[in-house]
Amino acid sequence: MRLPALYLSRVLPEPVMAVIRERFRLTAIPAVDPPSRQALLDGLQEAEAAICTLTETIDDAVLSRASQLKVLANYAVGYNNIDLDAARARGIIVTNTPDVLTDTTADLTWALILATARRLVEGDRLVRTHRWTGWAPTHMLGSDVWGKTLGVIGMGRIGQAVARRAAGFRMRVLYSGRHPVQGDPQWEFRPLNEVLTESDFITVHVPLTPDTHHLLDRQAFARMKPTAFLINTSRGPVVDEAALVEALHAGRLAGAGLDVYEREPEVHPGLRELPNVVLLPHLGSATLDTRIRMGMICVENVQAVLEGRPAPNRVV
Ligand code: DGY
Repeated sequence: MRLPALYLSRVLPEPVMAVIRERFRLTAIPAVDPPSRQALLDGLQEAEAAICTLTETIDDAVLSRASQLKVLANYAVGYNNIDLDAARARGIIVTNTPDVLTDTTADLTWALILATARRLVEGDRLVRTHRWTGWAPTHMLGSDVWGKTLGVIGMGRIGQAVARRAAGFRMRVLYSGRHPVQGDPQWEFRPLNEVLTESDFITVHVPLTPDTHHLLDRQAFARMKPTAFLINTSRGPVVDEAALVEALHAGRLAGAGLDVYEREPEVHPGLRELPNVVLLPHLGSATLDTRIRMGMICVENVQAVLEGRPAPNRVV
């Protein structure tokens, strides 16, 4: 039986690999690390379908080499790595992986909120390096999370999942976005500037677009309370990293919890020096169950298109 030609840019968890090996002929051997641009071009050349990740830049030049490509399934909910206009112009269907990673990413956002406020990473380092000399009333005092104000910038699926978790901490929730959402009636829809000025924890959940690039810049940090924390699990370039470093160094913010960076995997050296910053290596969706679900969704979308059915998670 002739199997459809699939380009898979990276190794996925084994249960997904098993399905892929059974149903497709791979045009290249996927690696754990991102492919070089040449490997991407070569792999796509014969492919009828592709599963790529957020680390692959799929621009018009890449798509122009993929003359057989019918569908490109992005192994992420975000798709800022793909030139959608170019895909549309070439009649290539693009899909993403919404829903399956919403709660997993919201959990990680909360891990960062708690880790920054309660100084978990600093404390862990102290204990591991034998520098802890015992309990003291004034030692490593953090900030309360419960009862504070959570500011959610971007109240899409993940923003709402983060906001729902705030109820357990008896927090007031303010949010900004394009329009009010049907959620908890106690969530307050506010202009971005008010969310920045009034919140104790500001968490970012917007997609990366030309409009949201550096949405959080020097002016935004100047509006935030000096006791406030910034959390970003969306996309790095939404935050002006140099301005963030400047604000943190000047004590204009209490701290930050970051999972994403402007030039991943590079991290602004000024961030590494700061003890009040928790830095994670883009782990938002990184649980085994979720990464399997993401892979299965990619397979479903690819198969739907190849079999002439509508793709369940079509972006363009
Ligand atoms: C996404 O889906 O956009 C995430 O960043 C992947 O982990």
